[in-house]
Amino acid sequence: MKTYLITGCAGFIGSNFVYYMLNRYQDILLVNLDSLTYAGNLENLKGVKNDPRHVFIQGDICDKELVLSLFKQHDLDYVIPISRAFLAST
Ligand SMILES: NC(=O)c1ccc[n+]([C@@H]2O[C@H](COP(=O)([O-])OP(=O)(O)OC[C@H]3O[C@@H](n4cnc5c(N)ncnc54)[C@H](O)[C@@H]3O)[C@@H](O)[C@H]2O)c1
Repeated sequence: MKTYLITGCAGFIGSNFVYYMLNRYQDILLVNLDSLTYAGNLENLKGVKNDPRHVFIQGDICDKELVLSLFKQHDLDYVIPISRAFLAST
């Protein structure tokens, strides 16, 4: 089994990536981290709410203690950073 940490999983690209991965691969665990900013929405993940291969954690990627704890809790094989950490003003 491969274990992935995905950040920004409740956004547009992240949530679609979660569905893609769970449909494409059976033997995986997705540890999904998202701070649920204005752009993040758990509605985007409602289709995988009861899937045991998906673990959602609300938190900020800048929270070092939290991120380190995820590395300790899970034997991560991959980290996929999708979250949008800043906004450019126009
Ligand atoms: N959507 C596009 O067409 C497109 C095109 C090119 C590049 N991108 C890039 O891809 C990335 C994702 O795009 P998107 O459209 O899915 O963005 P989005 O704004 O829909 O989703 C970003 C997600 O990241 C989460 N997030 C933001 N800051 C966070 C933090 N500090 N910690 C944890 N989670 C955090 C938000 O809650 C949200 O769920 C962005 O970096 C974007 O610039 C997007």
